[in-house]
Amino acid sequence: MPSSDVYDPVEIAAPDELQSLQLQRMRWSLAHAYDNVPHYRQSFDQAGIKPGDLRELTDLSQFPFTTKGDLRDNYPYGLFAVPQTDIRRIHASSGTTGQPTVVGYTARDLDTWSDVVARSIYAAGGRPGMTVHVAYGYGLFTGGLGAHYGAERLGCTVLPVSGGQTERQVRLITDLRPDIIMVTPSYMLALLDEFERQGLDPRKSSLKIGIFGAEPWTEDMRTEVQERAGLDAVDIYGLSEVIGPGVANECVETKDGLHVWEDHFYPEIIDPATGEVLPDGEYGELVFTTLSKEAMPLVRYRTRDLTRLLPGTARSMRRIERISGRSDDMLILRGVNVFPTQIEEQLLRVEGLAPHYQVVLTRPGRLDEMTVRAESRADLSAEGLAALGNQLVALIKDNVGVTVTCEVGAPGTLPRSEGKAQHVLDLRGETNA
Ligand code: DLL
Repeated sequence: MPSSDVYDPVEIAAPDELQSLQLQRMRWSLAHAYDNVPHYRQSFDQAGIKPGDLRELTDLSQFPFTTKGDLRDNYPYGLFAVPQTDIRRIHASSGTTGQPTVVGYTARDLDTWSDVVARSIYAAGGRPGMTVHVAYGYGLFTGGLGAHYGAERLGCTVLPVSGGQTERQVRLITDLRPDIIMVTPSYMLALLDEFERQGLDPRKSSLKIGIFGAEPWTEDMRTEVQERAGLDAVDIYGLSEVIGPGVANECVETKDGLHVWEDHFYPEIIDPATGEVLPDGEYGELVFTTLSKEAMPLVRYRTRDLTRLLPGTARSMRRIERISGRSDDMLILRGVNVFPTQIEEQLLRVEGLAPHYQVVLTRPGRLDEMTVRAESRADLSAEGLAALGNQLVALIKDNVGVTVTCEVGAPGTLPRSEGKAQHVLDLRGETNA
């Protein structure tokens, strides 16, 4: 049974109540997009569909998708549905292609965003009066400011630290005694290393809750961070296009996947190859339709994130399983699909290997090769390092099904992230003979 201890009663609304709210909001959102954004008018007309054709939620499948390419084609402000004078804030994500994706918010959108982040922090166990250390980057990235306003909305004290200056982060945690940290999981690892480097036990810090997201991480990584930091590690998901962090969040009492805040963001899972909507429980690509966003409504936006939809548990809203990766992160090695998170899973099984890693792709001859760069936890002889590498090679062969080379360095040899980790280094262009 969902607990009644929630930030907003809508989180535990009965399914039919939620669905009627969704339907009413979806009708508004489709009409808002069609009436005010030339791109949507054109794409709906082309598909021969009108907002008024939506009679039930499942009719959404007849509407066209929106892709990252559509955002690029309408760069920077072409998808905005309100006059520029109503836009209160702009954010952008850097993207892999170099062209940033620009998003805008009205005053009401910012208000909604604060609410869904407050809801997320509450679900993670945060309560008014707690102090929140925000180490997501502040700026055009949505992580810092999104977390910031959500924490304030909940009634917390915010430490707006942003990313970087790792030594100082540890000092601030020690001196200012936050209860909660919001940061990427990879940068949390760098912070833990820094605690230890300074001779401090992170388990003795004031931190009780970590709200980690903005990049994929694994269940084994949760165990690692919880044990080393002595806190509850909870997953937060979001993307700039949809609003930023706070689209979905895990509940601390169950830690079983992320409840999608479905009263604002309507999820679908599709087969990425055919675009067909898949039933709940099946894996595919996550697609979102915004239900309340004014500045930049999104209709069936293809996130490229791979997961599946599961029924509600601690909240009645549906969950997504932790994101295994993005379709564009998938590496294909001699015909086998590999996600960096699968490498992370195996790495964390080797006692003696630190949780840092880099996957390097090369093409020395005609075939791609993968080298996993890892790091030992302790100073070891060359033989000791090689033995750890051999263990990892064997685990990856057995469980992922690919043959890789492994290079294990001494502690501290791999680059550390200060935000989203760059786990994959693609040198295939440079090594092609
Ligand atoms: O990363 C928003 C965010 C900030 C979420 C802070 C959580 C915490 P973007 O820079 O637009 O926005 O990147 C969005 O990051 O499509 C996913 O591929 C990935 N991502 C975000 N959260 C998670 C997560 C922010 N919890 C892209 N697990 C998304 C896995 C995640 N991947």
